[in-house]
Amino acid sequence: MCGIVGYTGTQNAAPVLLEGLKKLEYRGYDSAGIAVLNDGRISISKVTGRIAGLAEKTEDGRLLPGVTGIGHTRWATHGAPTEPNAHPHTSNDGRFAVVHNGIIENYMELREELTRKGYHFESETDTEVVVHLVEMYYQDNLKQAVMRTAARLRGSYALGIICADEPEKIFAVREASPLILGVGIGENYFASDVTALVAHTRNAIYLEDGEFAELTPDSITVFDCTGHIIQKRVSRITWDIQAAEKGGYDHFMLKEIMEQPRAVKATMAPRIKGSEIVLDGVDIDLKQINKIMITACGSAYYAGCAAKYAIEKLCRVPVITELASELRYSDPLIDEHTLLIVLSQSGETADTIAAMRECQRRGAKTLAIVNVVGSTIAKIADWCLYTWAGPEIAVATTKGYTTQLTVLYLFALYAAKKVETVDDSTWRKLLSALKALPKQIQQALDMNPGISQLAKKYHSTCSMFFIGRNTDYAVALEGALKMKEISYIHAESYAAGELKHGTIALICEGQPVIALCCNDSVSEKTMSNIVEVKARGAEVLAVAFRDNARIVSLADDMLYIPKIDPLFSAAVEIVPLQILAYHVAKENGCDIDKPKNLAKSVTVE
Ligand code: M6R
Repeated sequence: MCGIVGYTGTQNAAPVLLEGLKKLEYRGYDSAGIAVLNDGRISISKVTGRIAGLAEKTEDGRLLPGVTGIGHTRWATHGAPTEPNAHPHTSNDGRFAVVHNGIIENYMELREELTRKGYHFESETDTEVVVHLVEMYYQDNLKQAVMRTAARLRGSYALGIICADEPEKIFAVREASPLILGVGIGENYFASDVTALVAHTRNAIYLEDGEFAELTPDSITVFDCTGHIIQKRVSRITWDIQAAEKGGYDHFMLKEIMEQPRAVKATMAPRIKGSEIVLDGVDIDLKQINKIMITACGSAYYAGCAAKYAIEKLCRVPVITELASELRYSDPLIDEHTLLIVLSQSGETADTIAAMRECQRRGAKTLAIVNVVGSTIAKIADWCLYTWAGPEIAVATTKGYTTQLTVLYLFALYAAKKVETVDDSTWRKLLSALKALPKQIQQALDMNPGISQLAKKYHSTCSMFFIGRNTDYAVALEGALKMKEISYIHAESYAAGELKHGTIALICEGQPVIALCCNDSVSEKTMSNIVEVKARGAEVLAVAFRDNARIVSLADDMLYIPKIDPLFSAAVEIVPLQILAYHVAKENGCDIDKPKNLAKSVTVE
């Protein structure tokens, strides 16, 4: 995710900013920039690529003298990773500069308004509206301009703002994006996380949502959103740098699991406008589509398998899921009435790209759902919907998968409205169910301590079965993959009804079976399968809703998830399985973030 830093003091700001940005590199980024205030003017330097490039361009900061500045590492969301899209962004009169971490959800409206008022835009970013708003509201008082600007913004933002007319001051604003102030002596700082601060100070002030701060070399004043001063406690940073990079978690995977409520919300919220779903730039003529094919690899493919049920049920169009590595060498029945949905976190998976090109050659329209902006799949698709999960560093995908599901669910509802296959009241009910996902994922995450205890019971097994039916089966596929790739335990996913056709022969005394039982339409049937495996000695850990009274008497261990429409349940149901895989792998001393033999992005066949 993007990172921001700010400095005001007596040293040259640029080297301090560059050093701070280097510390934020681990968050992932594709461009960077700094702005330094000197002699009543703001100088900017930006690069695409690495901080090292920015250091070279500015001769380690020497070309930008001045003691006040802000810096940014950008991980592209709105607009490709180019220099014009890199931060800091400046106002048309050059007197203001802004860096931003987060997403401004209402930037389209603001951009239209500002364009009408004569402001011109140099970038495609959501951020640029902020700097023009500050210029518009500025009347010799930066604090007032910042406050009025923040009142216009919807979404998540950590902002750093400087003004040529108010030297030595930097403003920091926080709403739903991390922002920490570093308290020094004769110099002060802000940063997205403590890693960029600890080289200078271990005294920090944690801003809360809706608060903003004015920093000068000798003072830090924090305000609430109405401009009243609030007293803040100075805390001591005790983390070491490595722990700080992982947000205090032991592994990136756990950090990314915990980020899911925020990532899902960031992906969903800007696309729900009142009671409408708006998929920007997507103008597929859905009435001309008679078949949807979903292709991807690994977890992305399993996200497609889970969402197939929602799309078919809501849009009444056949959905075929096909592994990209198979599709590319098949002779698929595809034509211009086929919509190919391509899923990829990285946007660079070789098999997925090849399958996509093959289907395009045969006339299919392509909609990509991708996390990395500007990646190959995003570029070659007819339409692209980005997941706004932020960079995923652990090899095992977690927030990548749940945000892919989120976009697919949004698409299912959007398409159902277009092709008029769902009545209004059902549609509205489903939209409310979708909006509840971040909160329900959080409730599932709250089971973390209990699951770590269960892992102590299950970690020493050499094989596991994951069973379920319908949507539960799709979750079983991903649950088993998570377990395999990070714990190296053989895990097999099975459609529960298929057990008796062969696999049940493998069930013996003590065999762990993870039974997914969250789809009411088939849960009775899955429970019968639980009885069958229990009769052969299996140890059953069931995932179900709390109102399923019967399953408690069948299973050995229970994991309860919040009640949710089965069409969308995969996004919540997978969470305890991600956590289980994590703790089992941890118990077994595995290299969780970098499992053996695996790469984050599979760019070869
Ligand atoms: O970047 P992609 O989403 O295209 O990657 C696809 C698979 O390689 C990926 O999902 C893989 O299965 C993960 N390691 C699973 O955690």
